[in-house]
Amino acid sequence: MPAPKAANPKSGGGKRSEYQDKEKPAQIRRSNITAAKGKIPTGVTQEYFSVFLIAVADAIRTSLGPRGMDKMIQAGNGDVTITNDGATILKQMQVLHPAAKMLVELSKAQDVEAGDGTTSVVVICGSLLDACTSLLEKGIHPTSISEAFQKAAAKSMEIIEGISTPVELSDRESLLQSASTSLNSKVVSQNSGTLSPIAVDAVLKVINPATATNVDLNDIKIVKKLGGTIEDTELIDGLVFTQKTSGGPSRLEKAKIGPTLLNAVMENNVVVSDYTQMDRVLREERQYILDIVKKIKKAGCNVLLIQKSILRDAVSDLALHFLAKMKIMVVKDVEREDIEFVCKSTGCRPIASLDHFLPENLGSAELVEEIQTGTSKIVKITGVANVGRTVTVLIRGSNKLVLEEADRSLHDALCVIRCLVKKRALIAGGGAPETELSLRLMEYANTLTGMEQYCFRAFAEALEVIPFTLAENAGLNPIATVTELRNRHAQGEKTAGINVRKGCITNILEENVVQPMLVSTSAIHLASETVKSIMKIDDINKFDRYSFSVSFQIKDIVKVR
Ligand SMILES: Nc1ncnc2c1ncn2[C@@H]1O[C@H](COP(=O)(O)OP(=O)(O)OP(=O)(O)O)[C@@H](O)[C@H]1O
Ligand SMILES: [Mg+2]
Repeated sequence: MPAPKAANPKSGGGKRSEYQDKEKPAQIRRSNITAAKGKIPTGVTQEYFSVFLIAVADAIRTSLGPRGMDKMIQAGNGDVTITNDGATILKQMQVLHPAAKMLVELSKAQDVEAGDGTTSVVVICGSLLDACTSLLEKGIHPTSISEAFQKAAAKSMEIIEGISTPVELSDRESLLQSASTSLNSKVVSQNSGTLSPIAVDAVLKVINPATATNVDLNDIKIVKKLGGTIEDTELIDGLVFTQKTSGGPSRLEKAKIGPTLLNAVMENNVVVSDYTQMDRVLREERQYILDIVKKIKKAGCNVLLIQKSILRDAVSDLALHFLAKMKIMVVKDVEREDIEFVCKSTGCRPIASLDHFLPENLGSAELVEEIQTGTSKIVKITGVANVGRTVTVLIRGSNKLVLEEADRSLHDALCVIRCLVKKRALIAGGGAPETELSLRLMEYANTLTGMEQYCFRAFAEALEVIPFTLAENAGLNPIATVTELRNRHAQGEKTAGINVRKGCITNILEENVVQPMLVSTSAIHLASETVKSIMKIDDINKFDRYSFSVSFQIKDIVKVR
């Protein structure tokens, strides 16, 4: 792009320059839209593009829906990820254009707000941006577009709320169906029969269904262990440590648990000069450790959890020997961030000094056992009195890639149930809500006039991208499918959706494809907010790292001279 020719303020009798490049804001906007949509436009110079730009909205469109494709992403360090999750794909992409980065943030925002729908939100945003391009070309002012889109988004919320059906948390069948819908589109879709009940039960166990308005997913600990298959994944009312015990019995009933931050080793270096002194030091060390172990035993503790220490071994071999003799099970190398969860689950307190090793600071569990899984062992603590209402999900998988994706998919399913706790309403899936919404918005647009009507229509049409893409990804004719879907909705079939299994349009509720209302409302709300922000930008100022380093070097040279 030619640089704006700024007039010299000194020339022209000291008058300030009136020159303004009228083309620049439009070009910036166009560049931002295409960057977010992922195509480099003709006629726009590369000035506003980074060296590396990946197609964003278009790139992840193919992964929408149950027949969507997965992405294989290789990170800079060679790590490979296989995923279908929109937020994960975008997070791993190296998007450098500032406008394209807004889409990454959008997907993250949806992940925080709803947890699911992170692909849909970006696809909707891409389609809305497409609509903006044609509206801009018609000469409509960007502010008018963004204002009308905001109104259309607000109207959409009303319409979606109108077509939603309330759901009770006691309606287990509906919860299972919505968890399965979110798992259907994942790599682990064939295991949704195992994972859906786990997601539903996990959430219901950590909340009080009568009063809860939100779920703290930190109360559900996900532990991944390589080996077995996803079918072996289980929900545990308690805790799991993926390391084996370091001594003591391997099975204990009626356990008293003490998580400790203690270092049972002598802390100082002692310099000894003869054998008698050495003998004394060894004897004293023995006595010192024995005293510690006796105190632990006296407090009634029979399972000792020791926090991982990075500076040295948290527990010496001698201490382990005494602990084993006293029949105290030891699990060492417990991660620091797990201590809080352990305390919440078992009702114990972290103990940092021996003086605090008191019976009231210990937690209790019915059973602590070491179990052989495949080639390694794990420690399971079960039968905790549900003190802090926590659960653990032990995910099993035959390889690292599957294990990671199962974790992400389960997170989506948990989020779907969390959405239903937050807002107890369900809508149909399979493109039905978007088609219905589009139709109702079109009807509403007829009551408007002028530019606003244009923008409302464009907004309504843009929403059809979801059924269009679902059909496209399922190998159906997208135009024919969307047209038929529109007709069926016009005839009053509010739940007609794309049946990807049969390859036709049916009442999608019969297929049990339902999703939380919050996922759709949040997607439309966040997408239109992002479009508004992109529309408002008319200039990009870049901090040039290169020029900074050059000036820095020159300064250095001057200093040397
Ligand atoms: N069995 C099904 N038949 C038809 N449509 C389905 C079915 N299962 C899911 N869908 C639709 O697929 C879409 C969701 O696809 P997908 O899960 O790939 O993306 P997302 O939820 O937007 O993002 P992500 O799951 O990556 O966070 C929703 O519109 C949903 O209605
Ligand atoms: Mg999903």
